[in-house]
Amino acid sequence: MPAAHGTGGSASIELAAPDDWHVHLRDDELLAAVAPITAMTFRYALVMPNLVPPICTTAAAEAYRRRILDCAGPDARPDFTPIMALYLNGDLDPDDFLTGVDTGVVHAAKYYPAGSTTNSERGGDSLGGFIDVLERMAERAIPLLVHAEATNPEIDVYDRERHFLDTELRPVVERLPELRVTVEHLSTRAGVDFVLDNESVRGSITPHHLACDRSDLLANGLRPDLYCKPIINSADDRRALVAAATSGSDRFFLGTDSAPHPASDKYGANARPGIFNAPFAIPVVAEVFNNAGALERLEAFTSVNGCRHYGFERASDRIRLTRTESGSDAPVADSVITANGDRVTIFGVAEARLWTVSALTEAPAG
Ligand code: NCD
Ligand code: ZN
Repeated sequence: MPAAHGTGGSASIELAAPDDWHVHLRDDELLAAVAPITAMTFRYALVMPNLVPPICTTAAAEAYRRRILDCAGPDARPDFTPIMALYLNGDLDPDDFLTGVDTGVVHAAKYYPAGSTTNSERGGDSLGGFIDVLERMAERAIPLLVHAEATNPEIDVYDRERHFLDTELRPVVERLPELRVTVEHLSTRAGVDFVLDNESVRGSITPHHLACDRSDLLANGLRPDLYCKPIINSADDRRALVAAATSGSDRFFLGTDSAPHPASDKYGANARPGIFNAPFAIPVVAEVFNNAGALERLEAFTSVNGCRHYGFERASDRIRLTRTESGSDAPVADSVITANGDRVTIFGVAEARLWTVSALTEAPAG
């Protein structure tokens, strides 16, 4: 279970409805199973393009956006909006991408180092190799989303974020200081420092990197459900992430990196990286902020900073989060079953027992 580091107790807080600035919704049966959960929990969802094959064209992004909305289900927020990004590789045609941005279909490009994570095989070998398209993005203030992990096998898995930032992202940011960059799913103190050192850079942070460290993953029986990329790192790294998220700085915001995989892909040899946390992401971050004594800064992290960076207004409707000291006996699901019988384990069940989330005002129609 995610480590508890605070005193707990009863608590209650109101927030503008949250957005998720990094989510994997997959396709087909898995999409049908997980899209309704994101659509009822979050107003905007920045959807990752790492399908197989990846989403590299505006037409593919538009078709995927429609499939997502078709699966959003009856309980979706009326203003639920998938925000689409294209997968940056040699198949991305810059003119098509910029047209997609001009027509409002596409909002960003996502760079994956090839081989770094799930469905990154079609990613790039070097971020600097895309400098022409990055220049055009910088000119037009189009956000670049970066999976910041070195893939050189000689680099230790716990150092891969720092190494990528130093050797690949830093030269690009120095050459294009206007380029708006999000270092996705920050996992290290080095990552936090990189964001703070570079004016044009922001960082998304996941619930699991805030709540867990690598001892949770490895020390008491191997926990494949906590295996993700970038790998959950040390206790000191976790402290740096919690300090950044709870600091009130507008450079950090929530991106759940909710990444569902069927149990058959998680619990064998070659378990795939990815943690499915969309259902209880908000209870998990509420617990982290409450433990840090920073509940009053939760709204900036979940509902304000990301909108500001991506150029949207915060939600006008509000939710209330309530913590009950003794927890609740109400049943809390620990997995989702897809139409073809696959089970996907949900992260954050313990926090979901402690926190209830209720809508205070109705979400406006989208
Ligand atoms: C993600 C996935 O499963 O698509 N996995 C993960 O461990 N986070 C890909 C990613 O964001 O790295
Ligand atoms: Zn991801």
